[in-house]
Amino acid sequence: MKILLLGKDGQVGWELQRSLAPLGQLLALNSRSQAYCGDLANLSGLAETVRTYAPDVIVNAAAYTAVDKAESEREQAFRVNAEAVGVLACAAADCGALLVHYSTDYVFPGQGTQPWREEDTVGPLNAYGESKLAGEEAIQASACQHLIFRTCWVYAARGKNFAKTMLRLAAERDSLGVIDDQYGAPTGAELIADVTAHAITATRANPALTGLYHLAAGGETTWCGYARYVLEHAVAQGVSLKAHAEQVNPLTTDAYPTPAKRPANSRLDTHKLQKAFALTLPDWRLGVARMLTEIHEK
Ligand SMILES: NC(=O)c1ccc[n+]([C@@H]2O[C@H](COP(=O)([O-])OP(=O)(O)OC[C@H]3O[C@@H](n4cnc5c(N)ncnc54)[C@H](OP(=O)(O)O)[C@@H]3O)[C@@H](O)[C@H]2O)c1
Repeated sequence: MKILLLGKDGQVGWELQRSLAPLGQLLALNSRSQAYCGDLANLSGLAETVRTYAPDVIVNAAAYTAVDKAESEREQAFRVNAEAVGVLACAAADCGALLVHYSTDYVFPGQGTQPWREEDTVGPLNAYGESKLAGEEAIQASACQHLIFRTCWVYAARGKNFAKTMLRLAAERDSLGVIDDQYGAPTGAELIADVTAHAITATRANPALTGLYHLAAGGETTWCGYARYVLEHAVAQGVSLKAHAEQVNPLTTDAYPTPAKRPANSRLDTHKLQKAFALTLPDWRLGVARMLTEIHEK
């Protein structure tokens, strides 16, 4: 099986390099790759890459992910998250490839407390969410076989992440203020990559599995709950901090204005995915604890 991976150095892309490698011949690209074009802003180059490599599976982990910046860079966000995705979908249809793509809880308006199901009415609150929704629609409008995974609150051990920021701030300050009225589940790039590899194998064996799925870790929390868990875990591992979990003070979204509006309810209902692929999605704390152990052992 020939697999084309785009966005190989992002949080999810990096983990996909590991999880996809055993499945076949993997060509992994980033925007600076030379032999093949992996730049999603270069639409003709992208189509040419798919034509010449002729993959059986395309996995697109590349995206414009700067949520606040997208408010002022709408055109770039739409080019990468929507137009380029449409080009990939058409190219996948032409060569009969399965296209795997990632979307976001930000396609939803965020009201209520129920976890969002795949068929629920969308209504993005910000430009990033609109561009990601346009990407989903471009894939669905094409004739390509596809898997779209909507995920949320992605973290990875590599690079910067929310947990590392909380640990740094808690070592410097006596107290922290963290948003406590947005709900979701921190989801590891590792988990997303492992589920993707499993789903590709299952879908190649049974094409009826193609479609849109919600993919997030089990359970739910707020950013404040997430921060408190990170600090509790660090202290239990012997890390010395100025601010402990009790010194993480809850903030409301209104107290922390950002250019892009964010949904209060980012809970995703993952029953469809778990049933279709016979999977269990572990509680968010398991993956976060693993990531923290990795950080502290370094
Ligand atoms: N992060 C989250 O919390 C979150 C939540 C929900 C859904 N998602 C979705 O999950 C997927 C993976 O996200 P992630 O967290 O892994 O994102 P990420 O770490 O920000 O990685 C995105 C990758 O896309 C690359 N990229 C940006 N513009 C590009 C272009 N024009 N051509 C080629 N590559 C380009 C970036 O490369 P450079 O750094 O070199 O630009 C980066 O390596 C995305 O579809 C995202 O929308 C993420």
